[in-house]
Amino acid sequence: MDAIALAEHALGVAQLILAVPPPLPAGFETALDPLVRRREAREPLQHIVGYAAFRHLKVRVEPGVFLPRPETEVVAQQAVDEAKLLIAAGREPLVVDVCTGSGVIALSVAAEVPGSRVIALDLDPAAVALARTNAELILEDAARIRLLVGDVGDPALLTDIAGAVDILIGNPPYIPDDAVPLEREVADHDPPRALFGGGADGLDLPRQVVAVAVRLLRPGGLLVMEHADVQGAAVRKLVDGTGAFESATTHLDLTGRDRFVRARGR
Ligand SMILES: C[S@@+](CC[C@H](N)C(=O)[O-])C[C@H]1O[C@@H](n2cnc3c(N)ncnc32)[C@H](O)[C@@H]1O
Repeated sequence: MDAIALAEHALGVAQLILAVPPPLPAGFETALDPLVRRREAREPLQHIVGYAAFRHLKVRVEPGVFLPRPETEVVAQQAVDEAKLLIAAGREPLVVDVCTGSGVIALSVAAEVPGSRVIALDLDPAAVALARTNAELILEDAARIRLLVGDVGDPALLTDIAGAVDILIGNPPYIPDDAVPLEREVADHDPPRALFGGGADGLDLPRQVVAVAVRLLRPGGLLVMEHADVQGAAVRKLVDGTGAFESATTHLDLTGRDRFVRARGR
């Protein structure tokens, strides 16, 4: 797959159909060779070609901003499904994506659920700028999504919508400080602030996401948060410990691993 994507990039075509190989232009090998060298040096494919696929979207990516992962697609699905249910019930769902990175979760909801109102934030101004670029490239009306630089741990964050949010979703950093990622694509290219959740269990940032959900969600609102495959029980415990939700449940990604928590506000 990587080889095909690099060849597409070198040829400047959207999709290479190998059953019908195109005539290769002069200079193709010269164009392809440096791309292959970069991939051999374990630079992520998405950074070489400049985009990542996420659900129905093709988003722009940039060095220094977290690359979206396939496991997050099923997390985003939860917000899409809940927002669709609310639209069917005649509501205008208000959705907040708290650690938006390139904007993939927020943009999936905005693109797949017309009529939803979406707010997305990130601590990193470069991530918010990239999410804004993606909103302009993907949405007919980029103003449908409110993007802001903000710290999920800031008690003054979004006080204007406290108690009014229908869905609070996030994929926060959650890797424990001493668990250095083994893959060089991750260790050398994803920004540390997007990976490490803080604290011995990596759950300092996820704790802040749960706290902001308690503050912002309306009664009956939905919290959806991604976590590491080994954090299911710990995250349920921290959500249930707030006393603000019905029993939290853990859900799997497409590889069958614990991947996110769901909890409905009381
Ligand atoms: C794992 S990435 C997820 C990005 C995107 N939602 C995705 O799934 O591809 C976590 C993001 O949280 C952001 N972040 C880290 N600390 C934060 C904080 N205190 N408040 C808000 N965002 C934060 C990082 O900059 C990073 O973009």
